[in-house]
This record gives sequence, structure tokens and C-alpha cells, in this order.
Amino acid sequence: MQGESGRSIILTGATGFLGAFLMAGLLERGYQVTVLGRPSGDIRLSDRLTRLTRWFNIDPGEKLAAIEADFSKKHLGLDDKAYGDLCADAGKIIHCASDTSFAERNRDRVMNTNVESLPSLLDFAADSRAEHLYYVSTAYACGRCDGICMETPVTARSFNNVYEESKAQAEEVIRRSCEDSGVPLSILRPSIVYGHSKTGKALKFNALYYCVKSISVIRDIFVNDLRQGGGKSGKWGFFLDDDGVLYLPLRIHLPNRGSVNLIPVDYFVETVLCIIEHSGTNEIYHITCGDPPDIMTLAEYSQRFLGVRGIRVLWNQSGKITDPNPAEELFERLFEPYRPYLSDNRIFDRSRTHGITHGVSAPPFTYEIFENCMAYAVACEWGKAAGLSG
Ligand SMILES: NC(=O)c1ccc[n+]([C@@H]2O[C@H](COP(=O)([O-])OP(=O)(O)OC[C@H]3O[C@@H](n4cnc5c(N)ncnc54)[C@H](OP(=O)(O)O)[C@@H]3O)[C@@H](O)[C@H]2O)c1
Repeated sequence: MQGESGRSIILTGATGFLGAFLMAGLLERGYQVTVLGRPSGDIRLSDRLTRLTRWFNIDPGEKLAAIEADFSKKHLGLDDKAYGDLCADAGKIIHCASDTSFAERNRDRVMNTNVESLPSLLDFAADSRAEHLYYVSTAYACGRCDGICMETPVTARSFNNVYEESKAQAEEVIRRSCEDSGVPLSILRPSIVYGHSKTGKALKFNALYYCVKSISVIRDIFVNDLRQGGGKSGKWGFFLDDDGVLYLPLRIHLPNRGSVNLIPVDYFVETVLCIIEHSGTNEIYHITCGDPPDIMTLAEYSQRFLGVRGIRVLWNQSGKITDPNPAEELFERLFEPYRPYLSDNRIFDRSRTHGITHGVSAPPFTYEIFENCMAYAVACEWGKAAGLSG
């Protein structure tokens, strides 16, 4: 782990979507990366990282080290020697690990991972006199709010789900601890991240992917039904065109017109690298899209990609559909967790991030990028066939 000052990075969350892309970006940039993480079943952390670096087509050689750690335990669950060695040469720390479940039934687990387990990592940052701690938060730590969200500490007290709540609490705990210990801190707040804008590659297929996948599942149910006589589908006015396109009268009701703040993972990585190399101290950065697409655009892209027509987006305050057909009932259930993010009127101020990246923005979300990312998702069966789940 020896390296010139600032070139040695401790990274958590490297077995997840953003952390893995970040690990690859850091290695490609010549950083010495030490990953703190956990095994999966009987697959050791080092083997998990080897699979990932192969997937990225990277040979890290001696530049990558894996240390199995337990964030919920004192000294990260390491023995005195291992902890001392880690502290001796820690450099910068990027804390990217997080429980990303939105589900209320997972509240204890989410709070445990995202908030209650922080002291061990924060003690490590202090004990090692870390050069800098970067905490990967989310733009949605701002909770339920309107208007312009600034790159400032969270003030919200009301949240859309336990995940947002935990990330807001984590920001506060980490800020206080770093103020006390004197460890320089930056908080990074990405919005919703999708795959690589050029290769289409991704490691996790939730959020945007989940909504598109939901429509594809519904399409398959009704195409199969129509091919077998279409008793149910015909009753609701679903039919197949001569060219195989499914007419699927699916109304998506949302409370207001707004957009979906999406960024590609390569923009996320480039921006984080830029921040790591140029940021000041105790600052917050929105890594968001300045010109986000609206839900109509996403619906149009989804229809074109999936060979479907008939989807309509309607606006009403209650967000409820009257007399829903079976496709609408199913879609409503599937997309419910993502509803707050699909008609977003908020503007995420990006002044500080812009200052650091010299105005480089996320690329426009074109159909070509959407198609590339979704084609990748379908090819790996929405993650099932990627072989990286362990
Ligand atoms: N994806 C997005 O669109 C998005 C948007 C905004 C912010 N973020 C933030 O970006 C970060 C990474 O998100 P992601 O989408 O990459 O998440 P992810 O794919 O779900 O990966 C989560 C990572 O955290 C690790 N982790 C979770 N619980 C843990 C625990 N109890 N102990 C140790 N490690 C644990 C996971 O390790 P295992 O592999 O061992 O489970 C994995 O490496 C998070 O902080 C998230 O809040 C993500």
C-alpha cells in the first residue's frame, strides 16, 4: 500500500455498482487501492475483486489489496497488528458501502449499516489521521423538499423512505465526527446512476432499469396471453399489431410534471476522481444532471425499446388511477418505491461541483445511450447472468 501522498486510497463498497466502477477508475488512474469489504458466502473478498477486475478487463497487479473487515466491530473487526498496519498508511478514504434498500421492512438493517456502524470507520479515519474522507451520500438525502437544493448540510426532517433518512443521518454523524477529529471531509451526492454511457455496462439494475424491466415483464405476460387466444387481454383492449408491437393501454399517473435526475456511472467516476484530486475541505458536491429527462421521454424510449405502444403519462394530485386494468395494477405495485423520483421538480445546485470539473456535465440522455444500457441489461438478464452477484 506504499504510495506517494494522495495516491493511496482505502475504498469501501467496491463489490457494489458504484464502488466497483470507482475501483476500476482509481486503478486505471494509477492509484493504490485497498478495499475494505466482506466475503459473500464462501467467496473471499479477494476472489470477488478478482472477478470484478476481470469483468473490467483490468490487471491490477500489486495495486489492489483486499482486507476483510466488519464495519460494525471495533477496529473494523481486525486484530491489533492488521489494524495498526492499515492505520499506518491509510491515505485517503472513500466510504461508498451502504445498504441501498428503500423497504421499510429492512429499516433495522439499513439503519444499522448506514448509521450505527459508522463509528468504527470514523475512528479508523481519526486513528489513521486520514488525509481526507469522502463519503458517498445521495442527492436524495435532502428528503421531501421543493425548489433548489443547495450543496449544503441537510435540514429536512421528512423523507420518502428509510434509505434517504439513513443517508441524511449518516451525513450528520460523519460531519460531526470529522469536525471533532479534524479529518478533512467531502460529501459526494450523486442522483440516480445508470450504466456506462459508452459501453452500456452496469452491475446493478434497479431504479430506471427496474421500471423498464417492469414494463417488459408486463409486456411478456400479455403477449403470451394474446398468443394463446387472448381471453383476458382482449377484454381490456390489448392487441398485437401485424408487426408484433403490443398495444398496451398503460396509464402512469404522477402528481406533477417533473423530471428524473439520471447520471451515467462513467460521469460519476470522472467527477469523483476530479473531486479527489482537486477538492477543498468540508464541502458537499452534487453529482447530478443539469438537464434531466422527463418521464414522457423515458416512456417513449421504453416503448420504442420494448416494442410496445399505448403508454400514457397523466398528471393528477392524488396520483391514483381510476378503474385500473390488470397491467396498470401490476405496474403501480412494481414502480411504487420509485414514484417520488419520477416527477421531480427540484433543482440540484451544482455550483461547487461545476467549479471543480470546469463545467463538465453529464451527457444528454439520448435514446442511443438508453438503448445501449437496456440492451446490456437484457443480455445479462437484468444482472442474473452477469456472474458477479457473489
Ligand atoms: N446506485 C445509485 O443510483 C446511487 C445513487 C446515489 C447514491 N448512491 C450511493 O452510492 C453508494 C453505492 O451505491 P451502489 O448503488 O453501488 O450500492 P450497491 O450496489 O448496493 O453496493 C453496496 C455496497 O455496500 C456494501 N455493503 C452493504 N451493506 C454492507 C455491510 N453491512 N457491511 C459491509 N459492506 C456492506 C456491499 O457489499 P456486499 O457486496 O458485500 O453486499 C456493496 O459493496 C451508496 O452509498 C449509495 O447510497 C447510489
